[in-house]
Amino acid sequence: MLDTAQNRPDLPPEVARRRTFAIISHPDAGKTTLTEKFLLFGGAIQMAGQVRAKGEARRTRSDFMQMEKDRGISVSASAMSFDFGPYRYNLVDTPGHSDFSEDTYRTLTAVDAAVMVIDGAKGVESQTQKLFEVCRLRDLPILTFCNKMDRESRDTFEIIDEIQEMLAIDVTPASWPIGQGRDFVGCYDILRDRLELMDRADRNRVAESIKIDGLDDPKLAEHVPANLIDQLREELEMARELLPALDPQAVLEGHMTPIWFGSAINSFGVKELMDGIGNYGPEPQPQSATPRQIAPDETKVSGFVFKVQANMDPKHRDRVAFVRMASGHFKRGMKLTHVRSKKPMAISNPVLFLASDRELADEAWAGDIIGIPNHGQLRIGDTLTEGEALRVTGIPSFAPELLQTCRAGDPMKAKHLEKALMQFAEEGAAKVFKPAFGSGFIVGVVGALQFEVLASRIELEYGLPVRFEASQFTSARWVAGDKQAVDKFTAANKQHIAHDNDGDVVYLTRLQWDIDRIERDYPDVKLSATKEMM
Ligand code: G4P
Repeated sequence: MLDTAQNRPDLPPEVARRRTFAIISHPDAGKTTLTEKFLLFGGAIQMAGQVRAKGEARRTRSDFMQMEKDRGISVSASAMSFDFGPYRYNLVDTPGHSDFSEDTYRTLTAVDAAVMVIDGAKGVESQTQKLFEVCRLRDLPILTFCNKMDRESRDTFEIIDEIQEMLAIDVTPASWPIGQGRDFVGCYDILRDRLELMDRADRNRVAESIKIDGLDDPKLAEHVPANLIDQLREELEMARELLPALDPQAVLEGHMTPIWFGSAINSFGVKELMDGIGNYGPEPQPQSATPRQIAPDETKVSGFVFKVQANMDPKHRDRVAFVRMASGHFKRGMKLTHVRSKKPMAISNPVLFLASDRELADEAWAGDIIGIPNHGQLRIGDTLTEGEALRVTGIPSFAPELLQTCRAGDPMKAKHLEKALMQFAEEGAAKVFKPAFGSGFIVGVVGALQFEVLASRIELEYGLPVRFEASQFTSARWVAGDKQAVDKFTAANKQHIAHDNDGDVVYLTRLQWDIDRIERDYPDVKLSATKEMM
């Protein structure tokens, strides 16, 4: 029997033990270090220090290019699986940079929970707050890890208050730090009445936890200086009065976050957090889809693509589609229906991702992430099923906030450029619009850094120097409505019309005024800043 807070005894045990989550944090809070320790304790790596792909946010352009060279590593770091205790954890990496918000959003559609990592000295920082808001939109359960407690940190109540205030979520302490900075000795595990002591001598080792019988147990004094025991008693009493007790249901509903204190670099508090994700984090959740929702305990296999990574190996031009399994028991070699094209696809070499290795996935259950190498058939938002025409919903594509015209350095290479751009569009790295009038392509991104990254990738992967130039347009909106209305609209606004890589009609402009006018003049046409991927 799993020690779980769930109430779904009907789930197959292999599904019930899966926990699929992402880490959200501000750059430098310790996401990479924590990931490394997860993998270390999960037995996926032998030594800490192997997860080389760092948070994208910290990369300068040259780091980014290096990462491109190390693509194998960055890709294997995109989704990682490991076992710990009775659970199978699937950790999906969120791109860290604010430039990548759309990709991040889509990543969060593939997980059932998020671990929020904050720096104990800094509290809730801007990027954490943004990512938290995205989780909130999806009511994702959130578990919090307050890192770097081995250093001077803020007062524990102050940290908890800040999270409650800034993020409007109840916070319940799962552990309580004892001492501060250099005097930090460890934590009191509130959920299990245990003393967890930090071993400063060996960063990869975890000191044994000491079972104690409440705060009056004389064993406390053997391990903790008297002044810190007094302080701990006082603080815990206050915490009991002022802070809510753990309510597993509220955690699952995303209204409450349990917080663990620790130090990732010292491997401290990490196992407790892992247990916490297992015990209080959600099992694989139902997936919204049309015409009906998909339940994780259905016997038929289904899954959806939330990320595509192209050119992982420049020699082979392969792509890997990252698929989140939504239901069933997938076995290697299975034939699944690619719902968009209605064509069958034999999934003969799916991969599972371990920290430093890709492995063939012989099987996968709801909750798992597998990679499917393909030649471009699989796109973000695609659904795979055993035949039923289900389409997973809720994976949006946002209108880009920055538009530029992209031209090939050599005008004879326009066709090559089109191919390269389409590839990146399918990967979700950029939006590509082909104007109905004029030459060139208009490329839209969410953050300015992406233009540079794209230019470098096109040159590196396609041997094609390109330049990005200011475009006359600044906004893009997808055009929807019945065919007649859309045709009438496009005929009258040809100078502003383009098609995206799926062939859908897009309206480009530089004036909000234009958008308002169209809403007034063409009531049958809807301009939209997001499009559901399908
Ligand atoms: P990120 O992925 O969230 O950006 O953070 P990362 O894990 O890279 O950690 C950022 C910095 O914080 C790293 O130091 C890392 O060693 C340090 N760090 C992580 N966890 C702890 C902790 O528990 N205590 C302390 N004191 N530091 C911690 P760096 O000097 O920037 O990089 P590096 O030279 O150690 O790689």
